[in-house]
Amino acid sequence: MPEQLNVPQGCFSLIRLPERRNELLRAWDAADEYLLNTLAEKPLSSSAKILLINDSFGALAVALAAFRPQAWSDSYLSQQATRLNLRANGLDENAVELIDSLQTPKAAFDVVLIKVPKTLAFLEDLLLRLRPQLTPTTQIIVAGMLKNLPASVWSLLERLIGVTSSSLAKKKARLIWVTLNPALTVADNPYPTRYLLENTDYQIVNHANVFSRTQLDIGTRFFLAHLPSISTAKTIVDLGCGNGVVGLMAAARNPDARLVFVDESFMAVAAARDNFNAAFAGKRPAVFSVGDGLQDFAAESVDLILCNPPFHQQQTIGDQLALSMFRQAHKTLTANGELWVIGNRHLGYQASLQNIFGNSQLVASNQKFVIIKAVRTSK
Ligand SMILES: C[S@@+](CC[C@H](N)C(=O)[O-])C[C@H]1O[C@@H](n2cnc3c(N)ncnc32)[C@H](O)[C@@H]1O
Repeated sequence: MPEQLNVPQGCFSLIRLPERRNELLRAWDAADEYLLNTLAEKPLSSSAKILLINDSFGALAVALAAFRPQAWSDSYLSQQATRLNLRANGLDENAVELIDSLQTPKAAFDVVLIKVPKTLAFLEDLLLRLRPQLTPTTQIIVAGMLKNLPASVWSLLERLIGVTSSSLAKKKARLIWVTLNPALTVADNPYPTRYLLENTDYQIVNHANVFSRTQLDIGTRFFLAHLPSISTAKTIVDLGCGNGVVGLMAAARNPDARLVFVDESFMAVAAARDNFNAAFAGKRPAVFSVGDGLQDFAAESVDLILCNPPFHQQQTIGDQLALSMFRQAHKTLTANGELWVIGNRHLGYQASLQNIFGNSQLVASNQKFVIIKAVRTSK
């Protein structure tokens, strides 16, 4: 049974995505409740133009659907959950205009509600792009759990937008009001940024919300040193591709394979596409797909899957996404197809893969990481 969010705007059933049996986590947090309760204290005009930024699973969108808001997000799962939760509550799924992070919403907004994202760089990029749409009368409220609101969030808001004031903390959540100061001098947007991929000539482009944006992740580095070369692998998927360096280097090792890059972050897939096309001068075809892992892939259609799995979803740490990817990989691999996974030693991926595939093999390890291979055995 989905849990019920009870706020002055109504009582709504909300789910998270990906859906899990016996889900223990809610699709909203105390910061969403605080924000919605506070908004209801001074009712808005029914024609108020509202922008929601980084709404986790659509709790704000569903509660404020009557205003036909715009919702700006980098997350495919968040967009899907918003549509699903609108429908599940008898609301028009088009009541909310979903805008992905590669676009910039354009309107004179009366109210901008921001759930603080995990990455400060992402917040910086969003604020810099939004600033021209704001006026000193725009009501801007940033909401988050205390643990996600370090002092750097305040200083960023003051540097890019203007004066802030904050609420008392309630249930470990806080609201920050920000007023635009049009006289502020604001630096140019530094995103996307680039780094040189070690041992190559590739300048890797990274949008603000891409994993390990400033340098090669140490786990990814270890993975790159052990990528397989499999002559029979016709289709290779870089699952949770981030900026696509894993697929990019796998393409170099497997010159005849067709590469598919998948991520649930719009910015990640855009970066992977740019990086791959730059590396192969646009001459090697590949597929770039924003989605929930391998959800939309045909069964038994892929020969090799490479995965450095996510270990958090938004601000919540856990292995739920990794496990969902392993199960999807098992369905999607051809007979004798292989899934290669890199992970921190302590995450226990080898046992999970053993459970799902009935086999698992340690390919390489160092003090911090293990690389494990699991083979889809023929039925
Ligand atoms: C640990 S990062 C690895 C990125 C890249 N492969 C690397 O090694 O640098 C995990 C990636 O999984 C993506 N991700 C999270 N949930 C996902 C999902 N349900 N479907 C596809 N990708 C997802 C994240 O956006 C992130 O880019």
